[in-house]
Amino acid sequence: MQLFKDQVAKALAESIEALAGSAVLTAEDVSAMLEYPPDPAMGDLALPCFRLSKTLRRSPVQIAAQLSEQVSCPCVARIAAVNGYLNFYLSDDVLCDTVVGEILAKGEKYGAPTVGVGKEVVLDYSSPNLAKPFHIGHLGTTVIGHSLRKLHEFAGYHCTGINYVGDWGTQFGKLIVAYKKWGDREVVEQGGVDALVDLYVRINNAVAEDPALADEARAEFLKMEQGDEENLALWKWLVEKSIKANDEIYRQLGITFDSYKGESAYTDLMPAQVQKLRDMGLLKIDDGASIVDLEAYGMPPCLILKRDGSSLYPTRDIAAAVDRYDMYHYDKSIYVTSAGQSLHFKQWFKVVEMMGYPWADRLVHVPYGTVSINGAKLATRTGNVILLRDLFGAAIEKVSDIMEEKSPNMPNKAEVAEAVGVGAIVFYYLSNNRIRDINFIMEDALSFDGNTGPYVQYTYARTCSVLAKSCGKVTEGGMKVTAPEESALVKTLARFPEEVLSALESYEPSIITRYILDVAADYNRFYHNCPILTAEDEDVIRTRVRLTEAAKTVLGNAFELICLKKLEKI
Ligand code: ARG
Repeated sequence: MQLFKDQVAKALAESIEALAGSAVLTAEDVSAMLEYPPDPAMGDLALPCFRLSKTLRRSPVQIAAQLSEQVSCPCVARIAAVNGYLNFYLSDDVLCDTVVGEILAKGEKYGAPTVGVGKEVVLDYSSPNLAKPFHIGHLGTTVIGHSLRKLHEFAGYHCTGINYVGDWGTQFGKLIVAYKKWGDREVVEQGGVDALVDLYVRINNAVAEDPALADEARAEFLKMEQGDEENLALWKWLVEKSIKANDEIYRQLGITFDSYKGESAYTDLMPAQVQKLRDMGLLKIDDGASIVDLEAYGMPPCLILKRDGSSLYPTRDIAAAVDRYDMYHYDKSIYVTSAGQSLHFKQWFKVVEMMGYPWADRLVHVPYGTVSINGAKLATRTGNVILLRDLFGAAIEKVSDIMEEKSPNMPNKAEVAEAVGVGAIVFYYLSNNRIRDINFIMEDALSFDGNTGPYVQYTYARTCSVLAKSCGKVTEGGMKVTAPEESALVKTLARFPEEVLSALESYEPSIITRYILDVAADYNRFYHNCPILTAEDEDVIRTRVRLTEAAKTVLGNAFELICLKKLEKI
């Protein structure tokens, strides 16, 4: 749409100049004034003329009337002056030719902004605390983070995805106690994630009964911090097992990371930052702990060192940010976590600014809302969690059952069931504004009716099947729009580049998800109301097949941005 907006703005600027007797506004000024009317009956673009009253010293109604006589632009079919608004109706044929032509020419690149070319982005996402179950609470950071990565890559940024695993902390002390008490190497080797979750839940229940066990866990962790070889060997093995346990989820989602440099990697890099804070006079001692006072910024102090001298979460984040800048020279460094951590990020972002790091304003925190399941809050400690593995498993099973019934002879059933099942969950999750809290209702997520992942994947497969059947039936020539469903679809397809930019600017994958639903709705309406291959006229067949190809391209490009797999057949 931007292209047409620019053309209309240029024509308008010329006419305005003629009316005013001098060049009063540039085409860019006018473009910024143009609006998309909420109702298509009011045209495709509108100029609210009251904005020009002052400059032209005329009433909006007069301006609209005069401009409607003068403006001419090849892409505009009709102009109407209504109540001080100038409404532009774009020419369906020109629009269709231009938009579809551009989509087919650009293919996988259609809609890709160029804002990121030559720039470096680091994204910290997923980043689960290891030795704990990988559960539904991690879905947000994992899929929002990955989608933001895809959006940035699409815009030309070079991206580095970091899984900053929580591989250090008292949870390992607990796990070591549990392992020493009840663990068995074979069981953990064989049982993988289940064995670890069992141990984790068991020790937490035991700690609740017997608080002395918590001291034991702290002692085991302290031994780790002091370099105890036996515990460190055990820790290393448990970390490897936990990372491996999550691999399958990442594979199902199609996610890979460039780095797994986790919290434990920063033990050696923290002291230099603490020293810098001390040298700058930013560190205060408060009840034995070292803090940075942030009262002047309306925030509680940022804790740097505990009373016993051990480091904290913000200290590690500061050291990691410095290290990442040294490694990647990022233009932007993005952190995706639950909104519960917003204060933490505000605090240490401020601290690095106070430390004078020139990249402090390149840090971005992207928060998202909490998840509850069927109304119940999550608690990893007691085992009241839904593991991502089980959630994905349930979805895949349901899809398999349906496929067994509907298409028992499909060759790659397992692969399709996985893509549709996992896609359903991802789509459900990314349908919400990220900051909204989600009450995850399993039934809804797995529903195959309505605005769901399976529905849009099915629509994509539908475009593929039309195209497969169209082979040899399409002749050379131009496009001719004959139905309102066609022009509605073209206009929706034309919006894609702007939707991508707005998703990128607001770090909001749900803009893409909702846009996909618009394309799917328009394509299905078109498909049901307009015969494609059986249309009478060659021009009409050609137009409809090309439109189908354009819809397939746009849906495919949009799927890529939200980790949804493209299936030719369902
Ligand atoms: N491991 C943390 C958690 O599970 C999230 C880490 C987010 N990234 C960061 N750099 N702090 O809560």
